[in-house]
Amino acid sequence: MTDNALKIWHPFWQHGLNEPIFEIKETKDEFLITKDGNKIIDGISSWWVNTLGHNNPYIVQGVKKELELMQQIIFAGFVHKPALDVAKKLKKFLPDNFSHIFFSDSGSICVEVALKMAVGYYYNKFNKNKSKIVAMEHSYHGDTFGGMSSGAESVFNVPYKKMLFEVLRIPYPEENKEEKTIKAYEEILKKEAHNIGAIILEPLVLGSGGMLFYKPFVLNELYRLSKEYDVVFILDEVMTGFGRTGSMFAYEQSNIIPDIICLSKGLTGGTLPVAATVCNKEIYDAYLDKDKSKMFFHSSSYTANPVCMAAASYNLDLWEDKKPLDDVKRINNYYKTKLDKFKNARILGDIFAFEIDGKDNSYTSSIQPKLYDYFLKNNVLLRPLGNTVYVMPPYCIKKESLDKIFYLLENIPF
Ligand SMILES: Cc1ncc(COP(=O)(O)O)c(C=O)c1O
Repeated sequence: MTDNALKIWHPFWQHGLNEPIFEIKETKDEFLITKDGNKIIDGISSWWVNTLGHNNPYIVQGVKKELELMQQIIFAGFVHKPALDVAKKLKKFLPDNFSHIFFSDSGSICVEVALKMAVGYYYNKFNKNKSKIVAMEHSYHGDTFGGMSSGAESVFNVPYKKMLFEVLRIPYPEENKEEKTIKAYEEILKKEAHNIGAIILEPLVLGSGGMLFYKPFVLNELYRLSKEYDVVFILDEVMTGFGRTGSMFAYEQSNIIPDIICLSKGLTGGTLPVAATVCNKEIYDAYLDKDKSKMFFHSSSYTANPVCMAAASYNLDLWEDKKPLDDVKRINNYYKTKLDKFKNARILGDIFAFEIDGKDNSYTSSIQPKLYDYFLKNNVLLRPLGNTVYVMPPYCIKKESLDKIFYLLENIPF
């Protein structure tokens, strides 16, 4: 780097530690290939976005075609084929209750959109008090203010605490203690359902919170109560969507259909940034009026960028027969053979997680950088969450690469 270039400030990175930053020149399948030709196995799907493997030739050719036609147009009052295609193709995977799709650019923003949609829904129905949000302990919904407020109080957001809006919390439904969570929600609703607009949950797995899993019946119960007390039920499937938990969407493992789902990461297979908030007709209809002040006031300049939409559309073609789920199953079967090698190990779909015993479990724990370095020195990218080590690779990962990851996991030297 020359001295007269701006220094890049990386996300979730403490530059004061002077740890090396690796330059990647290209990617292929499960590999990130460095400038020096090192092939690093991407064991975390590059922050959980990549599903079908890096540099997927089918998606790449689709993106190239669209790039030649147009790059960006205003999305208020205009539409284009890639967006229409995404709306049509995604519909095939969703039950009829879902009627409308609102596009945005990142997981955090599609969560903001969902929260605004829900609260605005009640506002437009002259129910202006229903603006409080319920969320789960240890949850993570992004780094914008709505996301930070709904997410767990943590080192991520401590400086901004006073700026966050109040959120009512229900406990994480630990195995065999699920009743506590359900009761807590019921208590909150009994007391102040008239003030509550929405509940937002990561279905089946709290990702950033430490890969904490919970049972599908909890969703059934929380949904039942939400309907009983008239609260919008939002599922943040930003991480879980597109196969991560073994089904196309995590909520499919329960018996419910949420009012709103948030999708991003896997929507383009991990190629380009796109997000979508999908809702039912009742929510949409609350905004439908001759009065402009009742429209949904949200946008960003690049909403539904045609090139990004093309990536999503071509990615959805590859899901046509849900074939990628076979690979998730293959990976899950591999994990099963490793379960007894680790204490506290748990698996769900493409996710394998366990804790390093007796070590500080905070995000800033001292074991984390040691683990990260150890894996990376061996050309494997794993980025533990505190003392929680997890694997969440692209679905195309080969057995040799899984073997290498698990060899390292089974032989952690500290
Ligand atoms: C469940 C969940 N919601 C929201 C987000 C935020 O997504 P993004 O990083 O694209 O803003 C994440 C990111 O990891 C996530 O896991």
